[in-house]
Amino acid sequence: MAEPFAGRTADEIAAIRQNALDAYAAYQAKKLSLNMARGKPCPEQLDLTMPLLNAFPQDASPISESGDDCRNYGVGDGITEAKKLFADILGAKPDEMFIGGNSSLELMFACLQIAFVKGIAGCTPWHKLDKVKFLCPVPGYDRHFALTEYFGVEMITIPTDENGPDMALVKKYAESDEAVKGIWCVPVYANPSGIVYSDETVRAFAALKPAAKDFRIFWDNAYCIHHLTDHPKKALTINEACAETGNTRIFYQFVSTSKVTFPGAGVAAFNTAKENLAELSAALGIQTIGFDKMNMLRHVRYFGDAEHMRQYMDKHRAILAPKFEIVLKTLSEKLTPLGLGKWTNPQGGYFVSFDAPKGTAKRVVQLCKEAGVTLTGAGATYPYKKDPDDSNIRIAPTYPKPEELQLAMEIFCLAVIIAATE
Ligand SMILES: Cc1ncc(COP(=O)(O)O)c(C=O)c1O
Repeated sequence: MAEPFAGRTADEIAAIRQNALDAYAAYQAKKLSLNMARGKPCPEQLDLTMPLLNAFPQDASPISESGDDCRNYGVGDGITEAKKLFADILGAKPDEMFIGGNSSLELMFACLQIAFVKGIAGCTPWHKLDKVKFLCPVPGYDRHFALTEYFGVEMITIPTDENGPDMALVKKYAESDEAVKGIWCVPVYANPSGIVYSDETVRAFAALKPAAKDFRIFWDNAYCIHHLTDHPKKALTINEACAETGNTRIFYQFVSTSKVTFPGAGVAAFNTAKENLAELSAALGIQTIGFDKMNMLRHVRYFGDAEHMRQYMDKHRAILAPKFEIVLKTLSEKLTPLGLGKWTNPQGGYFVSFDAPKGTAKRVVQLCKEAGVTLTGAGATYPYKKDPDDSNIRIAPTYPKPEELQLAMEIFCLAVIIAATE
């Protein structure tokens, strides 16, 4: 991070502060109500998907490729055509797919629950162990951390850089401590940094030899087709890397159409080795007789195949890329000249990760709130909501209208300046 206010005199800094306070007061007087807290698609994105609801007219056949009536019970692991579609999206094999309900987080919860209650890979159920630990690359996704916190898992933070998590540290913990049972990963356009794991990082994951036989990489590929450019970097898949090392049981991979079609009304899927799938599907088959196959069929009929789904994402990109530009342009215009803050320049996904000068993130969020701009809470990107540097803030540009986003970002930058000069 650049030195804040490098080369400026105390008087100059005082004048910068006073200008920021004046501008901030003017915004406060406007009594705005702007929200940059959660990474939700905006209404224009949701409008794109309305024809999905007509993709299944009353007279269309409800029979799946394998001859199952999607209106009825059964086919616990999902219909064949949905397996093919998601396998293609992930670079996986259709027979290593499980198609679930409306949420990938639900599937992650289920995987943890099964490991805790019944145990996996013939190992002791985790609830019988004195300690279960998970590695948590930071900054990370708050709901991942909420899941492991809910199950009483001890979370160990792992720093990340532009290539992904610090793999020397991951290796050290995973290979030396049997209580370390897993790691959270968002390999493509990570939440919130937007980084894409390098091929070396993916290979290092595939080469891990964890002390615990039931160690699993929770590979959450939520943003694998959410590009913000028309020349996306091709990431090595965990499937390819693990096929090379033979370490095929080590990962659980998740994906959903939450941000392709409708959050909460999309389709979620899960990919892992057949042996893992067998034990997980057995448990999920107790939980439900089957997920929503009509929705699976509707999605497959709407998109046709993975290539069409990828092309469809261009429409989302056309809406979202200008919003990310607003965020990045405002940050660099307002903060770069002052040497304040550091931020990522994501090529996809839903977030920009911003590091405020140490010790000021909470204050920035509070100042924004008092001027009518809601942000994700400071600390949310760390396990137990504790950012030791009180620095990281997740910016979610997708939901607000461009003009609202511009205002929100101007207030955000003022808040950074005010907090840095207190
Ligand atoms: C990394 C990541 N995984 C999962 C989800 C939620 O996915 P779903 O709606 O499929 O539960 C999100 C939503 O923001 C996310 O950012």
